[in-house]
Amino acid sequence: MKDKLQKIKDDAFAAIKSSEGLNALNDVRVNYLGKKGLLTSVLKGMKDVAPEDRPKVGALVNDTREAIEKLIEETKQKLEAAEMERRLKDEVIDVTLPARKSNCGHRHPNIITLEEVEDIFIGMGYEVVEGPEVEYDYYNFEALNIPANHPAKDEQDTFYINDKIVLRTQTSSVQARVMEQGKLPIRIISPGRAFRSDEVDATHSPSFHQIEGLVIDKGITFADLKGTLEVFAKKLYGEDTRVKFRPHHFPFTEPSAEVDVTCFKCKGKGCRFCKNSGWVEILGCGMVHPNVLRMSGIDPEIYQGFAFGVGLERITLFKYEIDDMRLLYENDMRFLKQF
Ligand code: DAH
Repeated sequence: MKDKLQKIKDDAFAAIKSSEGLNALNDVRVNYLGKKGLLTSVLKGMKDVAPEDRPKVGALVNDTREAIEKLIEETKQKLEAAEMERRLKDEVIDVTLPARKSNCGHRHPNIITLEEVEDIFIGMGYEVVEGPEVEYDYYNFEALNIPANHPAKDEQDTFYINDKIVLRTQTSSVQARVMEQGKLPIRIISPGRAFRSDEVDATHSPSFHQIEGLVIDKGITFADLKGTLEVFAKKLYGEDTRVKFRPHHFPFTEPSAEVDVTCFKCKGKGCRFCKNSGWVEILGCGMVHPNVLRMSGIDPEIYQGFAFGVGLERITLFKYEIDDMRLLYENDMRFLKQF
């Protein structure tokens, strides 16, 4: 019996010393000291020991158990200390490392320009309203004096949802929507996205933005239109900006004009940008056509008005002296960070 216990102790010690981690050590404990462990099975064999020898054998078993327990406890502490050491080394935080940069977004050049334009017109008593991008053919064309077979429809080819619904080609579609509400006078601008089936190049994109303007009141004249747009151009591009109205044609205004401003690049001297003319075009405008007023339920004998449509990308490019519209859409951070 003594030899047997000695062998168990030796085996247990060897197993404990070779345990490589806390889990392995726990397995050893279960193997030797657990309910079905080797030492426990020796205790169960006590019934075969002569009664007079039992106290001695019992004491021996207890000694063996204590020795094994002691070594397990010591080994456990060593393993735990080693584990702690390893984690302290692995999980070390280098407080001298530079912090990770958080990239903060900012406003797109289009938005910066748009908010500036909105401020200018709000300052003149205008309201900002929005209309749908997916629009009835009626509001985009017909209500603007562009009937089914009008050639102007060809110039503004767009994406058709069906016969009656299109992606709007111009923010002018908001004009009739506002007028038919019947609340007069009207003084609004309406910014938003417009679409045309154009190929992408330096000055075209199938999706772009416009800012529409509409004023309807009694006694509005071309002089009001001219004064308003002159104030707008000077506020946007500087007090020394000059404005030129060139006769033009739009189906929904009569008379109509295109407006040029002093070239932002050469200040009017003539350069590559303005094709040596000293002027660049920024918008279309005119006095609202009587047919358009009538279709929206307004009596042209009592009310008159003017309207204008500005290309947002165009005025942004001029403002920042950018020569390719595609730069606004390519999401190149090196470009966008400059604004
Ligand atoms: N909608 C026109 C276009 O996209 C621009 C325009 C011209 C708007 C004259 C107007 C206007 O309101 O009166 O080319």
